[in-house]
Amino acid sequence: MPIGELLLTTLKLVTESKQNFLRNIWYYALPAERIKAGQMLAKQLLGEPVVFGRTQAGEVFALRDICPHRAVPLSCGRFDGKEIECAYHGWRFDDGGTCTAIPALNDDRDLDLSKFQVRRYPVREVQGNIWIYMSDLDRCDEREPQQTVPEIAGFEGVTHQSTFTMKFPCFIDHAVVGLMDPSHVPFVHRAWWWRSDTILTDEIKAFDPSPYGFTMRRHRLERQTFFYRLLGGDAEVEIAFRLPGVRIEQIVTNTNRVCNLTVITPISETETEVTTMFYTTIPWFKPLRWLIQPFITTFLGQDRDMVVKQQIGLKYNPPLMLIRDADTQAIWYYQLRAEYLKSIGEDREFSNPVKSQILHWRS
Ligand code: FES
Ligand SMILES: [Fe+2]
Repeated sequence: MPIGELLLTTLKLVTESKQNFLRNIWYYALPAERIKAGQMLAKQLLGEPVVFGRTQAGEVFALRDICPHRAVPLSCGRFDGKEIECAYHGWRFDDGGTCTAIPALNDDRDLDLSKFQVRRYPVREVQGNIWIYMSDLDRCDEREPQQTVPEIAGFEGVTHQSTFTMKFPCFIDHAVVGLMDPSHVPFVHRAWWWRSDTILTDEIKAFDPSPYGFTMRRHRLERQTFFYRLLGGDAEVEIAFRLPGVRIEQIVTNTNRVCNLTVITPISETETEVTTMFYTTIPWFKPLRWLIQPFITTFLGQDRDMVVKQQIGLKYNPPLMLIRDADTQAIWYYQLRAEYLKSIGEDREFSNPVKSQILHWRS
């Protein structure tokens, strides 16, 4: 095979996407349990300061965390479960971001307070998670997104049983590409409970396009690791990826069904949050989740350590390569991302660039 066909230099793709977040799409924000009724929580997403809150009625909302008066974060103020009162001059805002009171105004001043509007972000609470729709900065926030939030089939209305988050010091693309990179596994995740042998084997997997991404067709796991045996043995797996950074791994064993949802959210251009959580039918999973936690920390930590090392090289802005077929999923990610940006720019339907395909690699 000519080298040009084998290698795809993605420097152009990488530099184009650098410091350019995908917008007009749902991002994972945080576990729902983190905000109780009457509480606020400040969090940076895509470089923007956001304050999340949950009203006394239980509804979650999200606003830009900057007071339009003189820029004090709203999260520094008080929240009574209905309205946020800014800490500086006491302006009040409802959960839709509309100003409802300016204490310094005389009664005879007839001012339309609704002109003082804080940016509101659409949010959804689904299966124990809060998702946020990050539209273009200049788009009208009131427009409800057409796109739906990713949901885990088979666990409708159910909350995850364990969740774990780790921050990676990189731009989102490097965290996403690491998530769909089969050839790093035998080198990075070497552990008795996951992958102790260093012998690479041939892998042949079928892929199909799926909403905003692609899915590795359900197949029997040849390599039944300790972890999969723990889940019940004879595991069958299906893995779906969708933009902007959502990976859903469905595992069916002799006795159980387990879903691992991993979501990637950019905090800033140089920091990305990776959250992984489990939905299971295993009765012992929830009470014993603390036993599994160290393994997840180690596993994610191995990926993060490699990203830290990668940053050393990336400082020099070298061209990066992706090889077929081991990196085809990463190539698809860049193609999906480019098409998503194009479809938004042209105000048309997204057209999935991925076609059904069998991929071969060694890992
Ligand atoms: S800065 Fe918020 S009320 Fe003045
Ligand atoms: Fe990894």
